[in-house]
Amino acid sequence: MRTLVGDGTWDWPQGHWLRVNFVTSVDGSAQGRDGRSGSINNDVDVQVFHELRRTADVILVGAGTARAEEYRPSATPMVVIGHELPALLADAANVRLAAGPLPELIAGIHAEGHHRILCEGGPTLLGGLLAAGLVDELCLTTAPHLVGGPGKRIVDGPSLDVPLTLSSLVEQDGTLLARWLVSRS
Ligand SMILES: NC(=O)c1ccc[n+]([C@@H]2O[C@H](COP(=O)([O-])OP(=O)(O)OC[C@H]3O[C@@H](n4cnc5c(N)ncnc54)[C@H](OP(=O)(O)O)[C@@H]3O)[C@@H](O)[C@H]2O)c1
Repeated sequence: MRTLVGDGTWDWPQGHWLRVNFVTSVDGSAQGRDGRSGSINNDVDVQVFHELRRTADVILVGAGTARAEEYRPSATPMVVIGHELPALLADAANVRLAAGPLPELIAGIHAEGHHRILCEGGPTLLGGLLAAGLVDELCLTTAPHLVGGPGKRIVDGPSLDVPLTLSSLVEQDGTLLARWLVSRS
């Protein structure tokens, strides 16, 4: 597999930036057979996933995802949005729990000096961030699989209409890695 990272494709813009990273199947599911994303992602996606983590100031994740994906502490500080930290994260020094209105939570993260915020989902949190107009960019991997079933799409919650502009599209072994920018009018 060729190295996908390091050529600037996933460099962060200057200033405050909220980037979201998701993987889906070709039929649009954010969950594989086991109800998690691990069964639809692949080595190509994992390579970019780790690059995005490595270069972020902070990881933002919903409690549902932290629970379902059995999140563990990362070298990058983590903010879990929800009302209870999963056991695997409970004692980590660089993980904290936060709840409340999302604009205030994001402003608080900026005030701590974190500019590059990487949100790893899940769909409920992404729906909330989009509704609040807080998302700048969506990194979306489309893995070459069809999975059917009842899997969630990447956005959950009330209907939205968020226009996007394609910033870049990389193909590797049939996997599509897109960077979509939220259009600001
Ligand atoms: N394919 C992918 O790339 C990908 C990425 C992420 C997740 N997923 C999948 O998505 C599924 C989880 O979906 P989900 O929608 O339940 O995940 P989620 O958004 O991570 O978690 C939902 C929970 O997060 C908390 N939360 C979210 N928004 C909040 C807000 N505005 N204010 C306060 N708390 C908020 C609440 O926690 P409390 O219940 O504690 O209040 C809520 O129950 C899992 O199966 C996971 O594998 C897939």
